[in-house]
Amino acid sequence: MTVPDEAWRSVNVMTKTYLQAAIETAQEAGEILLQEFGRPPDITYKGDADLVTQADRRSEQAIVERLRRWFPEHAIVAEEGAGHENSSPFRWYVDPLDGTTNFAHGYPCFAVSIGLAEGASVIAGVVFNPVSNELFAAARGEGATLNAKKISVSAIDILAKSLLATGFPAHKRVQSPNIHYYWDFTLRSHGVRRDGSAALDLAAVAAGRFEGFWEFGLHPWDTAAGIILIEEAGGRVSDFAGKPYRFGAREILASNAKVHAEMQEVAAEIAAKTGKK
Ligand code: IPD
Ligand code: CA
Ligand code: CA
Repeated sequence: MTVPDEAWRSVNVMTKTYLQAAIETAQEAGEILLQEFGRPPDITYKGDADLVTQADRRSEQAIVERLRRWFPEHAIVAEEGAGHENSSPFRWYVDPLDGTTNFAHGYPCFAVSIGLAEGASVIAGVVFNPVSNELFAAARGEGATLNAKKISVSAIDILAKSLLATGFPAHKRVQSPNIHYYWDFTLRSHGVRRDGSAALDLAAVAAGRFEGFWEFGLHPWDTAAGIILIEEAGGRVSDFAGKPYRFGAREILASNAKVHAEMQEVAAEIAAKTGKK
């Protein structure tokens, strides 16, 4: 089917509108996080090391209120439960504070992450670090930006010269196989960072700061915005088998595309060697 130019233009206009909405919403949420940062944290626990603070809840409330007002027909999946499901093909994935553990300890590495999917495809995404005032944004077919300047993934094409990142889950920690992957990838690269915010890790791959990232057990609100940032910056996102990443997948492998195959091979070797998949 040939889509007339007019129709394509209006699709892109809408996607840009969604992106602008995500940007303004993430900035408002970022202000809330900065107001809360440094106050004695009011922590409750979802698991033995899985924290929630008043900042998570206030940020989520503000984001959901705004998105609901602007796009009442769309579904919203928000980490702390303030969203609402419906049958709309448009679904916002909201992480109101990615890096809660860092935040609660006064470590200034956290972000707001907002992604919009149409069906299975993410069409717009924003990751905002309010401390460094870095705003990463991407819309399908429009490229990825950092503070409005185009970004692209790095040109490094071997793992031995790569800087990588990963993260560890806050729940069911004993069952995570990741320490084995962490060890091996560390020895085969320039190093592996573990900075406590998957959204910022993914944004850093898009911006060419990291060549690759992997993690087990992430949720759609952690990854939605990061996926489109990386794809629009020229990178690749898959599972360890190289199949396109789907929400709910057991693991995510994201890279500048050039070290992707090598990372897949290493992941397969680690799984075979340790029996830990
Ligand atoms: C966590 C962070 C962390 C990752 C965890 C996530 P939260 O999100 O992204 O880097 O390793 O798996 O749960 O709980 O701070 O939103
Ligand atoms: Ca998160
Ligand atoms: Ca969160």
